[in-house]
Amino acid sequence: MFTERYGNYQNYYSMRGNGCLLDSRIEALPKDLFKNTSVLDVGCNNGTITTQVASLFSVKYVLGIDIDPTLIKKADKHLEFVASRVGPSYDHRPMVSRQNFYPISSIKKFSRIQIKFQKPLNEEGFPHNVHFRAVDILRWQPNERFHTVLALSVTKWIHLNGLDEGLLSFFKKMHAVLEPDGVLIIEPQSWDSYLKAAKKFLFFEKSLHKIQIRPENFPEILEQHGFDLQTVVSSENARPKNIEQRGFSKRDIFIFRKKSV
Ligand SMILES: C[S@@+](CC[C@H](N)C(=O)[O-])C[C@H]1O[C@@H](n2cnc3c(N)ncnc32)[C@H](O)[C@@H]1O
Repeated sequence: MFTERYGNYQNYYSMRGNGCLLDSRIEALPKDLFKNTSVLDVGCNNGTITTQVASLFSVKYVLGIDIDPTLIKKADKHLEFVASRVGPSYDHRPMVSRQNFYPISSIKKFSRIQIKFQKPLNEEGFPHNVHFRAVDILRWQPNERFHTVLALSVTKWIHLNGLDEGLLSFFKKMHAVLEPDGVLIIEPQSWDSYLKAAKKFLFFEKSLHKIQIRPENFPEILEQHGFDLQTVVSSENARPKNIEQRGFSKRDIFIFRKKSV
């Protein structure tokens, strides 16, 4: 799908740094999941994945949310930066070839172009099809629903902070924010990674003792919360051999569909 539209991924991989490297988890997913959809990226961090999905995969609209306002500021800057590097619109090559057209040094020298002054850079309206908001997913009361939710590497933090109750509220919230038949793409961290987090941040040690649910139980619990498991994707397969492993490689990504009532 990607190759059909954009040609070889190599073009993209050769452009590294500053979030230019296509995330291997996104690469591993069937891209038609995003086509013409509205996407919510929960725990978007500095907006790298949100921006990639918004610019490359024919989405209608992407909202990236994160509990940390500092990260949301970074995400806004990252979007501005990525959009400022896209090549001129008279160049009719696809977006993947036009991204990173202007060198980083030129952006540093001449500064980023504010989003409000940018024309849409692709058919889908990038960068105007992406927004970021600083909110806690558990407290957020959205007034819209989404076709697709990305929840990559976020469950551990919600679980350690909110314990089993917080995790279950998260699953309920995922169900509530999705359109009927909507898709939840979730990459849970392993229990080992909870143990590592508790070693690093000692205040999570208490949480470990209180948590009963384990990540391996998530698929079953999500089934009980109104989701059907469609497929499991391993990002390991998609990662090119020359790209360093960033610790994500062995995690499975579960694709669920909201059950129609
Ligand atoms: C490990 S990062 C994952 C970033 C990105 N999704 C990825 O996979 O590359 C987890 C992110 O989730 C955010 N987060 C944690 N708890 C959250 C909550 N309750 N609501 C929204 N974001 C949250 C953190 O601030 C952090 O940026």
